[in-house]
Amino acid sequence: MAIPKTEWIWHNGQFVKWDQANVHITTHALHYGSSVFEGLRAYETKNGPAILGLTPHVQRLFDSCRILRMDLPYSQAEVSAAIVETVRRNGLKSCYIRPLAYKGSGTITLDARSSPTEFAIMAFDFGRLLGADGIENGVDVMVSSWRRMAPDTHAGMTKAGGNYVNSGYVTMEANDLGYMEGITLDINGHVAEGSGENIFVVYRGAIYTPPVGASILLGVNRGFVIRLARELGYEVREETFPREMLYVADELFFTGTAVEVTPIRSVDRIKIGDGGRGPITKQIQDQFFGIIRGDLPDRHGWMTVVK
Ligand SMILES: Cc1ncc(COP(=O)(O)O)c(C=O)c1O
Repeated sequence: MAIPKTEWIWHNGQFVKWDQANVHITTHALHYGSSVFEGLRAYETKNGPAILGLTPHVQRLFDSCRILRMDLPYSQAEVSAAIVETVRRNGLKSCYIRPLAYKGSGTITLDARSSPTEFAIMAFDFGRLLGADGIENGVDVMVSSWRRMAPDTHAGMTKAGGNYVNSGYVTMEANDLGYMEGITLDINGHVAEGSGENIFVVYRGAIYTPPVGASILLGVNRGFVIRLARELGYEVREETFPREMLYVADELFFTGTAVEVTPIRSVDRIKIGDGGRGPITKQIQDQFFGIIRGDLPDRHGWMTVVK
């Protein structure tokens, strides 16, 4: 998936042309992974493009910065406004948005605090990550031989660039073995998440998803889906569960900005439920996409319209 070029990138406080948004080779983040980022989507609506989850994504960006001890020289309101303006200025109807804070050129030592914290926002067209028909028909996935990092190694709650070396191993293995995605287990062998998605299990009428203690990233869409499922009357339990729970699930699905709500139809070639999208997954999708598309009221204020 090549990145489709747009005209403007917000870089360190101003808009610069796409080709001018560059960094020096001594940039700390290139050497040591000292960056944090976000991934958001803007959707086409009848009122213009609308960004899903702007506030929680910006909050998580600031949480990531705090954990990595990066001082971002902007307020949350300034970052939010710059994200909206990046979508508007590029004239995008719908897009993926990538805010990226990183430690710039300064020190060669591992304590990055003396390097400046730099910040950029990109926005560009983006399709369906797990294939065009995955949302309806589900995807085939595997349990990865790579584990999610242990809690006292990397900070799993951060969306730090360095964490995605682990996610890269997971996706490369899945791609090489002919699966759409890999699911990691945590250090204790409990289910954690996909390489870039949270996971939900429907089992005997209740819905389960791993807790923050399973080294997961606390997904914005995970939070949205927990809320929607509870509003639909389902019991949602954030608790640890073993790998075999995946095989006996009635339904399984991923959530995430890139994958939205994507059903899983098989794990390790074992068919899940009837081998397609399950009815509870469909009910949740109808709510999720209904709000995003504007067919249902945005009752929780999740959408920010780009004027
Ligand atoms: C490792 C990981 N887990 C979960 C998610 C889902 O998070 P969100 O719903 O905020 O996109 C992502 C994507 O951002 C991710 O990279």
